[in-house]
Amino acid sequence: MSTIEPVRKDIEHLPQIKKYSSSLRLWHWANAIVISGSLITVLINSTILDDRPTAAFLKAQFAEAGAQLTSHQTTTVAHALSDSVWDIHVYFGYALVTLLVFRLILEYFQMTDQKFIRKFKNAYRHYAIIKKQRELARHELAVKAIYAIFYLLLITQAVTGLFLTFEDFFAPYKAIRPSIKSVHNFDMYLILGFIAVHLAGVFLAERKDSKGIVSDMINGGRE
Ligand code: HEM
Ligand code: HEM
Repeated sequence: MSTIEPVRKDIEHLPQIKKYSSSLRLWHWANAIVISGSLITVLINSTILDDRPTAAFLKAQFAEAGAQLTSHQTTTVAHALSDSVWDIHVYFGYALVTLLVFRLILEYFQMTDQKFIRKFKNAYRHYAIIKKQRELARHELAVKAIYAIFYLLLITQAVTGLFLTFEDFFAPYKAIRPSIKSVHNFDMYLILGFIAVHLAGVFLAERKDSKGIVSDMINGGRE
């Protein structure tokens, strides 16, 4: 056995620096599940539990069963049904806010090379200062910029969602409630846009020159 063999073995046993820390991976998949859950509640309330058609449906069904209910009565029931789904939306909301706080704390405590801010700055430096392999550097910077925008959208959704949840507490700001609701509503479409671009991007990257990025997001990958 050569004299460098034990040293090589020691190096092999050093903990590997991963591309994504286990905490980031946990956040990523939990966040994806919770956002999907939240979106499903919105989908349910805007389709099968949409108040007006549900009220008409209930009225017709009761009439068939021999009970004549007024539109007001069936609308009240339809409203109660969608409200119970909004309650679930708020539970997903709390989970989302908790995960967001976890993500922000994680950013602070992560190893320097794993910090998002550091990766973003590096991407900017490669593109604007080092100016080598510009195509690649521009792509890297664009991907990171999209993530940065997504984090801002997520913060907006959490803040507006909390405002709507605790509207009694924010009663003095009642006048801006409709605007807050519109922002919350519109932000959903931007988040949907991010998800579509993200999934397409990951799919293309996996097929082209970044094979294995999805498994990196599962097993951590190598730095
Ligand atoms: C609601 C769904 C999803 C959201 C909101 C989301 C969000 C994100 C965010 C914010 C990042 C950047 C993490 C960081 O570096 O700070 C990221 C990275 C990543 N996501 Fe997702 N994700 C979603 C679903 C998925 C799915 C379904 C896949 C796999 C099929 C996936 C694969 C990846 C991969 C591979 C990366 C790392 C890519 C890179 O280094 O640029 N994501 N995701
Ligand atoms: C990805 C995250 C989220 C999405 C896509 C989303 C989407 C939506 C949409 C589309 C509405 C309907 C707005 C309207 O009727 O005009 C809504 C309502 C609401 N959301 Fe969210 N939301 C998210 C996160 C949150 C969070 C984090 C909270 C709070 C913790 C929250 C609390 C609420 C509340 C209280 C309502 C009002 C429900 C009602 O009309 O009774 N949402 N959300």
